[in-house]
Amino acid sequence: MGGTRNRVAVMHGVNLDTLGRRDPEIYGSETLSQLTNRIHTFARELDLEATFFQTNHEGEFCEYLHRIPDLADAAIVNAGAWTHYSWAIRDAIEVAGVPFVEVHISDVSKREDWRKDSIFEGLALEKISGEGAEGYRRALEIVKSELGA
Ligand code: DQA
Repeated sequence: MGGTRNRVAVMHGVNLDTLGRRDPEIYGSETLSQLTNRIHTFARELDLEATFFQTNHEGEFCEYLHRIPDLADAAIVNAGAWTHYSWAIRDAIEVAGVPFVEVHISDVSKREDWRKDSIFEGLALEKISGEGAEGYRRALEIVKSELGA
């Protein structure tokens, strides 16, 4: 099989659909759809093809990860609070088997202690935290160099 490996699934988990009205001093005032547009532009600038998915349902998040091998060559994952406790999502990302970067809009290292642990520890190419929307640009750059796209 030939072709460029440049498809990136950008996945947002629980409560990230409330961006824009949720703690703007922590998460900024941008809505998820505005953030999505920005990530889409970043991806185009890097010749990557981004697709987007958000759900508040853990099982749906896992099921999407199961389908990743057919949908994308890499992933960028902001799993919201699931990051800190969902072993089911850790298992599902292993099933997905694609390189991925973990992203958080806020700086989880400077917030409550329970936000410091991540179920993606040891699996993600990198964990980016506290860089807002720019963090997604950096994640796309990391994915691009990993894919050699
Ligand atoms: C978050 C950080 C998580 O701790 C939190 O539960 C979120 C968003 C972030 O993007 O900063 O929902 O992943």
